[in-house]
Amino acid sequence: MSNEKLLTLAREALQHSYSPYSQFRVGAALLTDSGRLFTGCNIENSSFSLTICAERTALFKAVSEGETVFSKMLIVSDADDFITPCGACRQVISDLAGNIDIILTNARGEMQHKKISDLLPLAFGQESLSKKHK
Ligand code: THU
Repeated sequence: MSNEKLLTLAREALQHSYSPYSQFRVGAALLTDSGRLFTGCNIENSSFSLTICAERTALFKAVSEGETVFSKMLIVSDADDFITPCGACRQVISDLAGNIDIILTNARGEMQHKKISDLLPLAFGQESLSKKHK
């Protein structure tokens, strides 16, 4: 699936953003290796810390439907600057999706291509848990 198509779908998801506190809408489109597409938006909460970002919404939707192998995720917002995933999402994407391609976009539809390893070097992961001193 083309990145332009992912951008269109992420923008559609952004329309569903529930962000009355920040007024900052985010959309994400996640493609699996098998070609399935999952979108997500940010969903805020009056207990602010319970907010979930668009990236994790999309990824959790996919994992909850049995998907385990991913290809790329595109992220969009209304901002002029390129939207970049928060630290929590970087960790969750790295852990559940591995070193996938991340496409950052701005309001003009321009794209920047990153890997999760660019955004989260020296990631903590499942293998880190087995490296403790015995
Ligand atoms: N947010 C996302 O959904 N994804 C990001 O990459 C950055 C931040 C959301 C969380 C919150 O609802 C709002 O944007 C402002 O932080």
